[in-house]
Amino acid sequence: MASVIIAGVGSYAPKRVLTNADLMKIVDTTDEWIVSRSGIRERHIAADDEATSDLAIKSAESALIDANIKASEVDLLIVATATPDYPLPSTACVVQHKLGVPPHATCFDISAACSGFLYAMEVAYGLILTNRYKCALIIGAEKLSSIVDWKDRTTCVLFGDGAGAAVLKKVDQPGIGIIGSDLGADGEMVDALLMPGGGSRCPASTKSVESGQHFLRMKGKEVFKNAVRVMETVAREMVEQHHLTVDQISLVIPHQANIRIIEALSTNLGIPMEKFYVNLDRYGNTSAASIPLALDEARRAGRIKPGDYTLFVAFGAGLTYGSTLIRW
Ligand code: COA
Repeated sequence: MASVIIAGVGSYAPKRVLTNADLMKIVDTTDEWIVSRSGIRERHIAADDEATSDLAIKSAESALIDANIKASEVDLLIVATATPDYPLPSTACVVQHKLGVPPHATCFDISAACSGFLYAMEVAYGLILTNRYKCALIIGAEKLSSIVDWKDRTTCVLFGDGAGAAVLKKVDQPGIGIIGSDLGADGEMVDALLMPGGGSRCPASTKSVESGQHFLRMKGKEVFKNAVRVMETVAREMVEQHHLTVDQISLVIPHQANIRIIEALSTNLGIPMEKFYVNLDRYGNTSAASIPLALDEARRAGRIKPGDYTLFVAFGAGLTYGSTLIRW
């Protein structure tokens, strides 16, 4: 039986680093508050002339090198993002052209916020198994600094920019690669985390700009509670569905939103924090980029070995959520 494997990964973060001390000059906050409530110490911020596709391309180039695949071999390109270059067309089309992915490739974006990378992986997995696609490039990329309200201390301290990419392909070896995936959404909680302006409900206008409709708004406590609950549920179910115990999971790569959410997940699942890969202290919440960015770092740091089970767990606006189990 064929499997779909992660053949290569890559990531990129913009050069500019914004520390908590820098933020203290912009909004009424302290390093102590940000670190104790979120675990974040610094985040990367894209340059004015750097768009989401620019970050995506850099991460993709490194994933293609890692997989030893040429851009010309990619026939499926998916970009998961909440901050596309343009409302229309897709960022995937911008990436395709600049990266040299051929015109016959299927290219589109996925909008699933911070769960976007896992959604992209699930779609690519299914499409590869139809045998109509051979090689997928999936990218999670965000320029969240472009939709953050830099006057709102309750949100601006939490987010950062970055990108991560993976090359997926089919191999004729059973039992490796993407073993399982469980995605979901709770649309009842759309209001908990959203950017109200710029879509068909509230098109851009002078009024929409003046009233701050084009910034991210979040009910932090509601998101927090739900994140802990759904991440624990999907992670536990994924392990149980595959007749594993949590001890057999070598590494958990959670969405990097808040260290307190990750610690709660660790306690509730009974998986020690040492088995969680955490880099949010250096990147903040990079939404769809967070899992592939962490995956790339974890792999390069030697945290993943052949035969290991790795569990990805995500949640985000929507509220979307999901978990994916990988065997290397
Ligand atoms: N600096 C200093 N004080 C701040 C602050 C900041 N950056 N942001 C908020 N505060 C203040 C609040 O105004 C509030 O003051 P008050 O008690 O006088 O009203 C106080 O700190 C506590 O705020 P609260 O919202 O209760 O803090 P919290 O412990 O819930 O933490 C979050 C806030 C946002 C860190 C937390 O709710 C969270 O992480 N939620 C999930 C967010 C998330 O992961 N989103 C991404 C989803 S993908």
